[in-house]
Amino acid sequence: AAALGKDGDFAGRKVVVSAGGTQERSTPVRVITNHSSGRMGYAVAEAARDRGAEVVLVTAPTALPDPPLVRTIRVKSAQDMCDAVLAETPMSDALIMAAAVADYRPSVMAEQKIKKTAADEMSIDLEKTTDILATARGNFVRVGFSAESENLEANAADKVRRKELDLIVANDITEEGSGFGVDTNRVVLIDREMEVEDCHCSRNTSGPQILDRVSALLKS
Ligand code: CTP
Ligand code: CA
Repeated sequence: AAALGKDGDFAGRKVVVSAGGTQERSTPVRVITNHSSGRMGYAVAEAARDRGAEVVLVTAPTALPDPPLVRTIRVKSAQDMCDAVLAETPMSDALIMAAAVADYRPSVMAEQKIKKTAADEMSIDLEKTTDILATARGNFVRVGFSAESENLEANAADKVRRKELDLIVANDITEEGSGFGVDTNRVVLIDREMEVEDCHCSRNTSGPQILDRVSALLKS
């Protein structure tokens, strides 16, 4: 694959890709996580590798094997992912944040397993995690993903502005054939000029399309 990609449009480029759903510990035996399979990020990482990029994949736990010829860093929590991304991005050309990062984590990690009590209700206090994409800034192309259940374009455009992204890849998780755990994925690309590209493609074809846009941004 490295030989295949040596003349590709990403030759000499370093691309950092994140993937998977972070796991936030609340007790030694319990985590809060989400249903991200990691497939989108892995597909983008492999596509970038095939086009000649040096790829670093920062991945929260998934059931997927490490992609060949991709430097894979396995992490668990949003904080671990943040540390790894901030360590890898300064010398990179692009950051593609396909990971589903927890927005909140338990405020305290209990030292022991929490025992059942007589009370019928219990709650866990949560605190905000660091927004990795908003924090990772520098001279590299920054791409976000957003899974929306309503107001797809408006919500995604708002994230482009708030996080000052070069590009966001938004998908409607309520639509049949899109969202978590399925192979097809309707995506809308919105760039920093608020240009909207609506493309109907599978996960296998959205990777190349996203990289075409990143490639163009790297040249401009
Ligand atoms: N992201 C991140 N760090 C976080 C949360 C999100 O880097 N703590 C990244 C995601 O990887 C994604 C982008 O930000 O590329 C948008 O994530 P999303 O969850 O859609 O946006 P939020 O800003 O968290 O807003 P909300 O969950 O309320 O829609
Ligand atoms: Ca979020």
